[in-house]
Amino acid sequence: MTDLKERIAAQLTAVRDRSLGYTAAEDDLLVRQHSPLMSPLVWDLAHVGNYEELWVLRAAAGISPLRPEIDDIYDAFKTPRRDRPTLPFLRPAEARDYIGGVRGRVLDVLDAVDLADPDPLRRDGFVFGLVIQHEHQHDETMLATLQLAGRPGVVRDGDLPPGLSAGPEEVYVPAGEFLMGTDSLPWAYDNERPAHRVDLPAYWIDRLPVGNAAYAAFIEDGGYHDARWWTPEGWRWRQENGVFAPLFWTRDGGAWWRTRFGRPEPVPMDEPVQHVCWYEADAYARWAGKRLPSEAEWEKACGWDAAAGRARPYPWGEQDPTPELANLGHRAARPAPLGAYPGGASPYGAEQMVGDVWEWTATWFDGYPGFRAFPYREYSEVFFGKEYRVLRGGSWAADPAAVRTTFRNWDYPIRRQIFTGFRCARTATPEER
Ligand SMILES: [Fe+2]
Repeated sequence: MTDLKERIAAQLTAVRDRSLGYTAAEDDLLVRQHSPLMSPLVWDLAHVGNYEELWVLRAAAGISPLRPEIDDIYDAFKTPRRDRPTLPFLRPAEARDYIGGVRGRVLDVLDAVDLADPDPLRRDGFVFGLVIQHEHQHDETMLATLQLAGRPGVVRDGDLPPGLSAGPEEVYVPAGEFLMGTDSLPWAYDNERPAHRVDLPAYWIDRLPVGNAAYAAFIEDGGYHDARWWTPEGWRWRQENGVFAPLFWTRDGGAWWRTRFGRPEPVPMDEPVQHVCWYEADAYARWAGKRLPSEAEWEKACGWDAAAGRARPYPWGEQDPTPELANLGHRAARPAPLGAYPGGASPYGAEQMVGDVWEWTATWFDGYPGFRAFPYREYSEVFFGKEYRVLRGGSWAADPAAVRTTFRNWDYPIRRQIFTGFRCARTATPEER
């Protein structure tokens, strides 16, 4: 096998081990719906196998369907999450059997395929990258489900570096053009393409994500009770839902506690805040005298190397993420302390842009100029418009295979169960330019 084939095979194995690890629990935990926002865990498990069958076996290799009668059950568009518990989905043993059968055939296809074939699904192993990233994204979704299920002992935790770096609160990004998106990263999704020039005025962006201590100061200052900081929609959301803190936070006397995968613990004040929705992030930014960065501002601060006139795939450069550079791939079940990755800084000096928490941006999810849907409209295009806000950077639960400077995620502005925080930005004043 070629190097690329070996790398693909290793990544397929790694992601499957991950999915099976999150579902190595008793059937009851897997078949139940823990929140109307989420699927039963075993639905996600068989869905990733079904997706792999659709794209690798049927679309790329022309193999006839193994179990055509289950396609509709696992079509995310035909079955809203709310309805999934009532579907006749495969039970855990049958689901594991089905996805194992698909995987065996996928490895045969990988063995035989010509990765230099000009067909866009096969070239550079795109279709394998598609299913590997898709499965990792569902694994992150499964972690969000397990967090909502709140049962200790299922999700493993680990060690992370201490928060060490000191530095300015904000970093400066001078005015000028940069190259946004990509034409060259072989496994990039359609929504990251094509690369295009974007000209931005000078701005400041926070060196680090907003931390729990700063966020608690917003709460203590009455931030949740002051309509000045909120958009009208955000204020309505806050009032209707009676929200006064991030999801999973509670107040005990004078102290903030949170529940993390079923275990209560004091909120660590030196970690990036997570489980806040877009409205909360936006309100905090206004309270702080700043705003959320646009998606373009976020990407420029993360990956643009002005000296080289090139965009980097990661803030630190070309090198694949390591435990010293970023908190990715569920090394521990939480974000790392602020300042834990000085070596992962971007050319402009922004830190922790990749890993730890997804970061809300001010931008609605839409196609770049010249966007072309590939390999199907339902991956990105049907979500374009003024309904979803863009999230960037990947969380501790995101795998390096599905994280890069250009990677775009999106969600409704009310969503808080995802591993999401934010950082702030502000336009440079004329005296600062
Ligand atoms: Fe999916």
